[in-house]
Amino acid sequence: MRRQIDIRLTVPQEDFVFSPAKFPAFVGGFGAGKSEALVTRLLLLKLRYPGNDVGYFAPTYDLIRLIAWHRFAEKLEQWGIPHKLNKSENTLAVHGAGRVIFRTLDNPDRIVGFEIGDAGIDEFDTLAEKQADNARNKVLARCARSLTDCPIPAAWRPRRKASVRRTASG
Ligand SMILES: Nc1ncnc2c1ncn2[C@@H]1O[C@H](COP(=O)(O)OP(=O)(O)OP(=O)(O)O)[C@@H](O)[C@H]1O
Ligand SMILES: [Mg+2]
Repeated sequence: MRRQIDIRLTVPQEDFVFSPAKFPAFVGGFGAGKSEALVTRLLLLKLRYPGNDVGYFAPTYDLIRLIAWHRFAEKLEQWGIPHKLNKSENTLAVHGAGRVIFRTLDNPDRIVGFEIGDAGIDEFDTLAEKQADNARNKVLARCARSLTDCPIPAAWRPRRKASVRRTASG
């Protein structure tokens, strides 16, 4: 079924949301619209590849419980797409299009036992560098079944001079 969705994005958001890069990143200041772009990108990937679950990762459970659940649900409501949150499983079922799986990065060793096609990491800058690398590797390992080559969009704020963190792929 074809669906018309109204999406309003700033130019940097649009670059990120539709980036064909394997590991796109959105680096911007407070309130620049990073999370909004990440949620939009993940939901568009979800709708485009219904057989691929997507993962949304944030540093803490509070960020997921207080912010992410609401943002994903709000966007789906705007788009008129039915959805159902399962708080105990920490997943959001998108009608006819699989699930968004929410997981925290404060304990990367718990990022096991599920498969996703695409993933996004929010608030990446709040992790220490070693923890961030570990978390990123765990997230990548979950993307075994990707139809889209598992781009991992990440959203983080620039930190003084060192604004962009090097990744394993450079
Ligand atoms: N394209 C847009 N059109 C209208 N409102 C937007 C748009 N993008 C973001 N917003 C709104 O701007 C506010 C800030 O957006 P968002 O939370 O995504 O920024 P952020 O960069 O993730 O912020 P933070 O640095 O706090 O993580 C939110 O209220 C969001 O709903
Ligand atoms: Mg944010």
